[in-house]
Amino acid sequence: MCGIVGILGAKPVAGDLVDALRRLEYRGYDSAGIATVENGHLDRRRAEGKLKNLELRLSNHPLQGRAGIGHTRWATHGRPVERNAHPHMNGRVAVVHNGIIENFQELKGELAAKGHEFQTETDTETVLHLVTDYLDQGLPPVEAARMALERLSGAFALGLIFAGHDNLMIGARQGPPLAVGHGEGEMYLGSDAIALAPFTDMVTYLEDGDWVVLTREGAEIHDMTGRRVERPMVKSIASALLVDKGNYRHFMAKEIHEQPEVIGHTLANYLDMAAGKVVFPELGADLAKISRVTISACGTAHYAGLVGKYWLERYARIPVEIDIASEFRYRESPLPEDGLAIFVSQSGETADTLASLRYCKAGGQRIASVVNVRSSTIARESHVILPTLAGPEIGVASTKAFTCQLSVLACLAIAIGRARGAVGADQEKELVRALTEVPRHLTTILRSESLYESLAVSLHKAKDVLYLGRGPSYPIALEGALKLKEISYIHAEGYAAGELKHGPIALIDENVPVVVVAPENDLFEKTVSNMQEVAARGGQIILISDATPDKAGCKLQTHLQMPHAHPFISPLLYAVPVQLIAYHTAVVMGTDVDQPRNLAKSVTVE
Ligand code: G6P
Repeated sequence: MCGIVGILGAKPVAGDLVDALRRLEYRGYDSAGIATVENGHLDRRRAEGKLKNLELRLSNHPLQGRAGIGHTRWATHGRPVERNAHPHMNGRVAVVHNGIIENFQELKGELAAKGHEFQTETDTETVLHLVTDYLDQGLPPVEAARMALERLSGAFALGLIFAGHDNLMIGARQGPPLAVGHGEGEMYLGSDAIALAPFTDMVTYLEDGDWVVLTREGAEIHDMTGRRVERPMVKSIASALLVDKGNYRHFMAKEIHEQPEVIGHTLANYLDMAAGKVVFPELGADLAKISRVTISACGTAHYAGLVGKYWLERYARIPVEIDIASEFRYRESPLPEDGLAIFVSQSGETADTLASLRYCKAGGQRIASVVNVRSSTIARESHVILPTLAGPEIGVASTKAFTCQLSVLACLAIAIGRARGAVGADQEKELVRALTEVPRHLTTILRSESLYESLAVSLHKAKDVLYLGRGPSYPIALEGALKLKEISYIHAEGYAAGELKHGPIALIDENVPVVVVAPENDLFEKTVSNMQEVAARGGQIILISDATPDKAGCKLQTHLQMPHAHPFISPLLYAVPVQLIAYHTAVVMGTDVDQPRNLAKSVTVE
């Protein structure tokens, strides 16, 4: 979603605002803008499209103010054109906003009736007029903002500055995250700590309903009842270095290549490798007594959960209910007694996942979240956090966060299996040993990247691509198709291989590449039969398997040889070839790999 930033600086802040927006650009990149208070007056620069357009505008028409706010937008209300870009501003106040003001129609009607003229199609502009209305009534800025905040409903993070007030900024959080950064005689506001990393590593995360009055001297935080509150100042681990592309052309490439290392870190957090045991944090529930596991997540994180279901059912022998969070939250699904609910989210801020969490919490479930951002809302509202140690993921299409989520879920399946007596000590050792092999195997797979580059040259001409898999390879097929369509814009579908004949086989002809994810396990023969059905109809088969090509029994367009490994870890290994296929195809297509059109990394609206 949108990213917001604010700086009360000792010198002109436009350059630093743009620098911070660059680190927030993964959240939205339809348009960007900044506003500052200069000699008591508000002035702004905005530009449609990527941040570089705004930079160009600023180099021609600089801003000199020492107090400023900035925004990078992912459009919700109103097209992504300059007119709708933030900051929204009049002569008295400027505002940046992430989220949705749900009652904006009602407020807009009321304000328009009072004579306020609306210039844009955005919900955000109502905030501007509302605050102005209170200023017009003679209220000082802080009071005007407080009164306006009381009228807003929905999910939002806001930043406000005022004409004539060079040492004042107001931030507010209801839903989407907002952090206050503490500097030396300077103060900051940002959608996440990464945005503020080069300026300060001392941050305070606002809680839901909080609003803050910033001056260069410090921050005064109030909760939703208006009471002054203290929130802890923490040392942020987001370092500016971590969000550098290094020698890679794209963040996505860097993040794909980081996987052996970050999976190693994540596994080390849950495994005693020497003893061959899983060492899991206390879930605060007797694992042996859990009656059912409910998993809910969105996008790639949902596919990680789907692999988790296969593992939990097969190895821990526990029933699992899983759904995408946008459906689950409204399904009114009955929840069992002694149920464990797991929420998987890289950002920890996805609105639908958070709503599902709250539903399950109200329904008496034990809440565990597999999150990459430990300071996130989902993490904070969970009974137990099961962190992934992927480090900041900047590419909008998730890669390393996905495989780290898988790593945690694999450990969880073993832990629950052990507690329920479904996994004995020997099997635990065997599975743990298999997991410790993952980083080594991934390094091998990543060495054959040139194969994927050649494959991409033919794949990029396709209009449709099918991905097939069975068992835990089915979610990997779904993830492969999602990755390809997200970043190359080629239409792709993932299917359970056995379902092929119930529909998608009608699409097969010599122009349709079919990627088959088929480790040589107990389901291999079945998948091979489905593959032959494709071959018989002229489909171009790309087989990802540790089996030798002769075992396919049909003509292959490409065979991507995988290392032999324990079947338990196949999803972790086979996730990487489907990422590489998508990445290299997108590179050949020349798309914007890290910031694909219309997508946002952290989806804080429904
Ligand atoms: C967006 C991102 C996906 C991500 C999904 C869920 O759609 O583009 O990469 O999988 O949100 O995000 P989360 O932060 O909850 O994992």
